[in-house]
Amino acid sequence: MRRFTPLFLAAFALFSAGCEKKSQPTPADTGPQGQATQPAPTGGTPPASETLLLGEVSSLTGSQASFGVSTQRGVEMAIKEANAAGGVKGKKIAVRVYDNQSKPEEAAQAATRLVTQDKVLAIIGDVASSNSLAMADKAQAAQVPMVSPASTNPAVTQKGDYIFRVCFIDPFQGFVMAKFARENLKLDRVAILQDNKSAYSIGLAEVFAQKFAEMGGKVLATESFAQGDTDFRAQLTAIKKTKPQGIYVPGYYNDVGLIARQARELGLTVPMMGGDGWDSDKLFELAGNALDGSYFSNHYSPQNPDPRVQKFIADYKAAYGNTPDALAALGYDAARVVIAAMEKSKDLTGPSIREAIAQTKDFPGVAGTITLDENRNAVKSAAILKVGDGKAEFVTTVNP
Ligand code: PHE
Repeated sequence: MRRFTPLFLAAFALFSAGCEKKSQPTPADTGPQGQATQPAPTGGTPPASETLLLGEVSSLTGSQASFGVSTQRGVEMAIKEANAAGGVKGKKIAVRVYDNQSKPEEAAQAATRLVTQDKVLAIIGDVASSNSLAMADKAQAAQVPMVSPASTNPAVTQKGDYIFRVCFIDPFQGFVMAKFARENLKLDRVAILQDNKSAYSIGLAEVFAQKFAEMGGKVLATESFAQGDTDFRAQLTAIKKTKPQGIYVPGYYNDVGLIARQARELGLTVPMMGGDGWDSDKLFELAGNALDGSYFSNHYSPQNPDPRVQKFIADYKAAYGNTPDALAALGYDAARVVIAAMEKSKDLTGPSIREAIAQTKDFPGVAGTITLDENRNAVKSAAILKVGDGKAEFVTTVNP
């Protein structure tokens, strides 16, 4: 993240209904891009002194852009609803959003800026675990509560008592897919292809391998790549030689889409399995039909008939035109947990808000009911989804 010139700020800040977004320039990337940089009307935004300012760090651009865009919409929706209902302690809420460009270094600098300069009351973010890990020390040191909507690597909340998440963690998520592979898909022999640049991918692969073996299965090979690679043929060829019945690929959608295509081109047609990192409409664009018959674990399914979930989906569709994915749901939930805690908190200092967040219990989220445990993690069920015809269909729920 670089310092903003006043001109840059004027050109790039976006204010809309309590929501301001700031895109961070890099030498290669200083022009207007995406929704983060569109000038927008300032009407409706209360003066800063009368607002309670939250911070958000999201991947609005870069390889994980769909994660950040969805999360940001969920957060924005929660804040709009809260403001329409009177705000918190009689004040309106606003959020300052920084784009991390899908990079941990940018996420860390954005967190620093939020706590030192913007002096936000709490931070919502990030999605990718590697980014949250890079941010957490900054929030912890400043005693500013940080709530990750979707980072599942266990180490994130181990960074300190100001760091929370509203999603399950990977020791559970890895177990869920290992169990499904053994019991439902009846697989005995699988291979793994992991992203060595992602704490999330490495952690999830490790748990899956361990649980799959404990349940009597055999992991034939573990191959790796680095986020952003475009040629996975060497790894896939090595995997093909081991004749697996399935391949576990706990990566992010942009890599997984390419991996799936190249696997099929090489005649590797067995089902693939993955985790929440697959969750993006872009996955289907990138993979075409290459993932038909593959499965992934996730936090939520839009097919959940619960009226609370269906109302959220209808409202979100009305506002943004598409069906919310898990990140939209988790962004919405994270913001609502923070807002509810600020309302209950005895005052608006970091320690008091932290205390109130820690007490979150039976909170009605749209991606499951949230109770935070003593390690500041939510304990929730996971959904298994099956890919087919350019979409993901709900298969089953696995409870903790
Ligand atoms: N769980 C992923 C991580 O920790 C992030 C993610 C969550 C991606 C939900 C997609 C959907 O890195």
